[in-house]
Amino acid sequence: MSVPYSTDDAGHPAPSDGLSQSVGPNGPLLLQDHFLIQKMAHFNRERVPERVVHAKGGGAFGEMEITEDVSRYTSADLFQKGRKTPLLLRFSTVAGELGSADSARDPRGFALKFYTEHGNYDIVGNNTPIFFIRDPSKFSDFIHSQKRRADNQLRDNNMQWDFWTLNPESAHQVSFLMTDRGTPKTWRHMNGYGSHTFLWYNAEGEKFWVKYHFKTDQGAENLDADKAKALEAADPDAHRRDLWESIKKGDFPSWTVKVQIMPFDDAVNYRFNPFDLTKVWPHGDYPEITIGKFTLNRNPSNYFAEIEQAAFEPSNLVPGIGGSPDKMLQGRLFSYPDTHRYRIGPNYLQLPVNQPKVATRSYNLDGPMTYSNNADPVYAPNTAGGAVSANELYEGEGYHVSGEMVRSAYELHKEDDDFGQARTLWEKVLTDTERTSMVGNIVGHASAPEVTDDMKKRVVEYWTNVHPDLGVGVAKGLGVQA
Ligand code: HEM
Repeated sequence: MSVPYSTDDAGHPAPSDGLSQSVGPNGPLLLQDHFLIQKMAHFNRERVPERVVHAKGGGAFGEMEITEDVSRYTSADLFQKGRKTPLLLRFSTVAGELGSADSARDPRGFALKFYTEHGNYDIVGNNTPIFFIRDPSKFSDFIHSQKRRADNQLRDNNMQWDFWTLNPESAHQVSFLMTDRGTPKTWRHMNGYGSHTFLWYNAEGEKFWVKYHFKTDQGAENLDADKAKALEAADPDAHRRDLWESIKKGDFPSWTVKVQIMPFDDAVNYRFNPFDLTKVWPHGDYPEITIGKFTLNRNPSNYFAEIEQAAFEPSNLVPGIGGSPDKMLQGRLFSYPDTHRYRIGPNYLQLPVNQPKVATRSYNLDGPMTYSNNADPVYAPNTAGGAVSANELYEGEGYHVSGEMVRSAYELHKEDDDFGQARTLWEKVLTDTERTSMVGNIVGHASAPEVTDDMKKRVVEYWTNVHPDLGVGVAKGLGVQA
């Protein structure tokens, strides 16, 4: 079989893949060598900026199948019984850069893109059901405290504790992070969560609040701090490698899809604010309901095209699903499409990985790298037979809101506080071994040389607020008076 010619990007057969055109074998190179010039110029443009957070990751394609009838809760096409929907799942760490180690202590991103009959639906979640803060105006400050200092570009644990201890709503998520769940064994061995509360509405317009849980069928497994540290050095790409190798050999990982459903009117008088992203809904109040399963079964064929340029956005919502008064979710609805326009370009939705698998008939036009535009008419409304909007599909998404315009924290429900659920985690969820490793992980983190004595005292105070025993354990480890 003959090997095909290599070409340049315009398809011209390449005269050489290793020799530039010169005046005689030893002479200077010629400006007319457009093959060389394209090669060098394209190389200079190989990178797009890395994601401002969640830069290091990996992903794969697969399919979700819904096995239960939840049409009484949502009309969303992808959640109808028997429906199979293709998907992309990208896993990531949060704070590290593109080349950083997969086993670092960090939450893990768990970003799903479903290619549905009504356009793409993205659930851009994490491997934890909660988050560090509950107002989006704190997000960039939080991230700055977790990434690098301005002066020496070093990570700084003192800065991290400074932020966390000044923002006690972080306690629940930092508790998760400081258990061994902060260092999952692989991406396949962790659960995913939509984290926020979302709106579901059915064909009659009845509304419900919903939370998503994706439970790993491989079993949840974590690394202890020593193993995670050793792996950082031995194989910084361990999790990316694990996913790739598993899928390559046909060992397809899967997750069971579960939801918690809250009747719409329960939200007002529930014992705590059900839209507060630092809280879980206890399963005793709202049990998990299994609705299906998804499997990852195909590796990307080109990492850059399909994973680096994948653009997840919580604003990719489909009829039957809406946002909620979760302020963090509201902030995210703006943030992601904005960062994609900057990081990838305004027509990022035309790239194959981001393109919906259904025809688009939008009236947006042109812009850099336009690949496909709709035919005339190019404006709405029109009398030229152009596509018309589908208001009736969204009839259930509205709900009543009113109030003064303010800058304020959420109004408190009767059991709202910052430490209660972290305390429940410590008291009722963790085993003795997990409690011991949590104390060890906190002490290890707050023992970094840059953490000041004053900060150590604040760290002890923070954990004492979660639970006195935890405070005592951390104080002992740090050599601080509790
Ligand atoms: C990535 C902003 C909270 C999960 C990102 C990116 C931005 C961002 C700008 C980079 C996106 C890209 O370049 O492709 C924010 C803001 C938040 C917030 C402003 C709060 C106001 C959260 C929360 C979660 C989350 C609460 C999880 C529950 C993720 C994930 C990614 C990501 C998984 C990576 C997506 C991917 O794999 O491409 N975030 N984020 N973020 N964020 Fe957030």
